[in-house]
Amino acid sequence: MRAVVQQGYGGTETWSVHDVPDPSPGNGEVLVEVRAAAIDRGTWHLMIGEPLLMRPFLGLRGLRQPVPGRDVAGVVVGVGPGVAGFAPGDEVYGSAPSGSLAERAVVSVKRLAHRPQTLTFEQSAAVPISGMTAIQAVRAGGVRAGQRVMVIGASGGVGTYLAQLAMSLGAEVTGVCSTSKIDLLSDLGVQRIVDYTRQDPTDLVGERFDVVLDIGGNRPLRDVRRLLTPAGTLVLIGGDEGGRVLGGLDRQLRAAALSLVSRQKLRGLVAAEKAADLEELARLADQGAYRPVVDRVFPLADAAKAMDHLAEGHARGKLVVVP
Ligand SMILES: NC(=O)c1ccc[n+]([C@@H]2O[C@H](COP(=O)([O-])OP(=O)(O)OC[C@H]3O[C@@H](n4cnc5c(N)ncnc54)[C@H](OP(=O)(O)O)[C@@H]3O)[C@@H](O)[C@H]2O)c1
Repeated sequence: MRAVVQQGYGGTETWSVHDVPDPSPGNGEVLVEVRAAAIDRGTWHLMIGEPLLMRPFLGLRGLRQPVPGRDVAGVVVGVGPGVAGFAPGDEVYGSAPSGSLAERAVVSVKRLAHRPQTLTFEQSAAVPISGMTAIQAVRAGGVRAGQRVMVIGASGGVGTYLAQLAMSLGAEVTGVCSTSKIDLLSDLGVQRIVDYTRQDPTDLVGERFDVVLDIGGNRPLRDVRRLLTPAGTLVLIGGDEGGRVLGGLDRQLRAAALSLVSRQKLRGLVAAEKAADLEELARLADQGAYRPVVDRVFPLADAAKAMDHLAEGHARGKLVVVP
């Protein structure tokens, strides 16, 4: 099959398209013919091999598993031993640690579900990693109707889901993004938008939020806490300015420690990949609670261009790659 193969760590010069052997499904796994894959910041972190803290687990000189990409939507074409609930011909979506920027991918049933019926394959592929992160962040924040919620980084892969899921629960959402993405948030129905290139969101004088979901900018904790009500909740999800070694983990650890002595709840999120969340995201999509924002669709041969587009900060929502 054709697949993107990564050699070493670095920029997209480490990616090239090759013929490689088909993966074969093991116990509890299925083989999926990929109809669409998507890329996300996690794939970018794996490409550059940062935060460096991760390298002993990933491979010191390069990825142990060289096909990048995790998000996948496609059709089951093979079933390994011990698989129940999936059969050849099923249309599925999920996360493929064996790599999804390929014509075929192996996916564990622990990270797989039947795909949303009202979405295309391309839209479905845009959901898994960012959607699971968003739904888990909404739960970690305890978001509910009537609350004032700020999403810092609402225009990206995770943020576009977070903003929509919080609004579908009845929260009043303030979204933070850069100037060129204001129209995107406005189209999603985000009630209030702050352009971080013109105003730092932590300088909103007199504004207090019940929940702040922080995905971008890696601002100091003391600044982000100023935005919270006295018993408000902060969920730290990401931010790519957290340093090459720790990647912002230190901020998450400090938040957990501070939370012990504060009425405010300060949490870091480490999203888990779960079939149950994929099933819920499929249900929510089919009920119209959210729609994936697919910015552009690239052919497999241009997967590196897709990653450059993401890395340069141009992506509006999600980028999809089709084999
Ligand atoms: N905790 C977890 O388990 C988990 C899971 C998934 C992802 N993440 C992390 O979450 C982060 C975002 O992922 P993503 O896929 O959503 O990335 P993305 O698609 O690149 O989106 C990044 C978002 O951050 C915004 N942003 C950038 N600089 C900012 C600043 N200075 N102030 C405010 N907002 C800013 C961007 O706004 P503009 O585009 O308008 O500039 C965009 O909305 C990454 O660090 C990723 O590693 C964590």
